[in-house]
Amino acid sequence: MVQLTLPKNSTIKEGKVWDRPQGASNVREYRVYRWSPDDDRNPQIDTYHVDLDDCGPMVLDALLWIKNNIDPTLTLRRSCREGVCGSCAMNIDGMNTLACTKGMDEIKGTVKVYPLPHLPVVKDLVPDLTTFYAQLRSIEPWLKTSTPQPEKEWRQSHEDREKLDGLYECILCACCSTSCPSYWWNGERYLGPAVLLQAYRWLNDSRDEATGERLDHLEDPFRLYRCHTIMNCAQTCPKHLNPARAIAEVKKLMVERRM
Ligand code: SF4
Ligand code: SF4
Ligand code: FES
Repeated sequence: MVQLTLPKNSTIKEGKVWDRPQGASNVREYRVYRWSPDDDRNPQIDTYHVDLDDCGPMVLDALLWIKNNIDPTLTLRRSCREGVCGSCAMNIDGMNTLACTKGMDEIKGTVKVYPLPHLPVVKDLVPDLTTFYAQLRSIEPWLKTSTPQPEKEWRQSHEDREKLDGLYECILCACCSTSCPSYWWNGERYLGPAVLLQAYRWLNDSRDEATGERLDHLEDPFRLYRCHTIMNCAQTCPKHLNPARAIAEVKKLMVERRM
C-alpha cells in the first residue's frame, strides 16, 4: 500500500507551532497542512496541541476543536459527521479516509493531516473536486429508460436489487480515486475508481435501459483501461467497497458484448 502524504506539486515547509492549551494535561499533537491562495507563500505544516479532556474522540472533533479554540482560519469541509456525506475526506496518518469516522485512538503519536493527494488545493484541507464531479456527470449517474413510464414506479425484484449491494453505498468521498496511482498520472482522462464504480452501479441496475450507450461511453483507452489492479482503492475505501472489482466487471461486460 502506497503511503500518501504530499498534495500535488507541493514544496512544504515547517509552519507555526501554536501555543499549547493552558492547564491541559492530556494533549495530542496535530501537524496540519496549511495553504491559502491569499498568501504568497508555499504550503506549510502547522503544529497544534489538542486538549483531549475537552474534545471528542474523532479526528474531525480535534480539527474542529483547533478551529474553535486555537486557529479559526483552519479550513476544512464537513457536514454529516456520520460517515454519510463524504465531505470530510482527507489524508490522515498517511491514508485517505473520513475525518469523522477516524478515531484518534487508531493513530499512534502525532496525528498528521493533509488534504486528499494529487488534487489542486482550494485552501488548507479543502481539495478542488471540479474535475471529479465533471467526470461523475459524464457517466450520467441516473436511471435512463426508453420504455414508457410506468403508472406507479419502476419495479425491481429483491434479487436484482441485491445486485446493487456493494455499489449503492458509495458516498463519493473520492478517497479511492485520489489513492489510485493511475488516477494521479492520468486524472484528466482516466475516470478513476469512484466514478467507474458508479458507472457499474448503473450498468448493473435491472431497471436501466441504456447499457449499450453507457458501455460506448466507457470504450476508450483512457476512461476505463488505465486500471492496473494495484488495489489502493479497495484498501482505502472508508465504506469497505471494492471499486477494483466493479472495474473488472465493467471490463467483463465489454468483452461479453464483443462475443
Ligand atoms: S468507493 Fe469508497 S472510497 Fe471510493 S468514493 Fe465511494 S465510498 Fe469513497
Ligand atoms: S485497482 Fe485500479 S482503480 Fe484501484 S487503485 Fe489500482 S489502478 Fe486504481
Ligand atoms: S462529515 Fe460527512 S462523511 Fe464526514
